[in-house]
Amino acid sequence: MKLCVLMGSPRREGNTASLVGEFLSQWEELGQEGEILWLYDHPINPCLGCMACQERFDSLGCVQQDGLEPVFSAMSGADVILFATPIYAWYCTAPMKALLDRVVYAGNKNYGVRKGPALLEGKRAASIVTCGYPAEKGADLWEAGLKRVCRHSKMEYMGMFCRRDLGRSVSFLDEEKIVEVRDFARALHLAIKVDEL
Ligand SMILES: Cc1cc2nc3c(=O)[nH]c(=O)nc-3n(C[C@H](O)[C@H](O)[C@H](O)COP(=O)(O)O)c2cc1C
Repeated sequence: MKLCVLMGSPRREGNTASLVGEFLSQWEELGQEGEILWLYDHPINPCLGCMACQERFDSLGCVQQDGLEPVFSAMSGADVILFATPIYAWYCTAPMKALLDRVVYAGNKNYGVRKGPALLEGKRAASIVTCGYPAEKGADLWEAGLKRVCRHSKMEYMGMFCRRDLGRSVSFLDEEKIVEVRDFARALHLAIKVDEL
């Protein structure tokens, strides 16, 4: 079961990365494959809204040549897509948002004259999030948005793991979070296995 992490944090040693590191190590201990793509290393331009993508059904068909293609190829090759992001201004970071804008359009051929496929249909999606506010005020809008993206793209939303950052004076990753994020990886793995029975 191949998992692709789309990492929306700019901080390699940051809070989100620390949770993802534990998650991935648990995932691999379960005998599963995982890879991580740092979105800040794959600059993805904003969508131009030109709709050219709606004329092509076999691929993204986007007119822009930028970092999207390798990221989308990793998404297409994965069974599970993990959207990992710190919350910035009540939503995901800008590189993640640019990715969603482009993939929701170019990946779903719903908007042209002829209706076509959802290119990510059947993928599973989950999220790891960190934020400064309590999760219900920090990550609620992001989770609601991601759920809609999944429904629209015919992907199965599997859940979110969110933990609060209490500021730079408090160490973020502690034993409790390590256990909990590893539990999240195991629960996700089990849920998919059960689904597939
Ligand atoms: C530019 C910026 C905007 C932020 N906006 C929010 C916000 O709207 N809500 C929130 O709960 N936390 C917000 N935070 C806090 C971060 O989400 C939090 O510190 C997070 O753990 C950082 O993750 P990282 O270490 O992976 O970068 C913001 C932080 C920054 C730098």
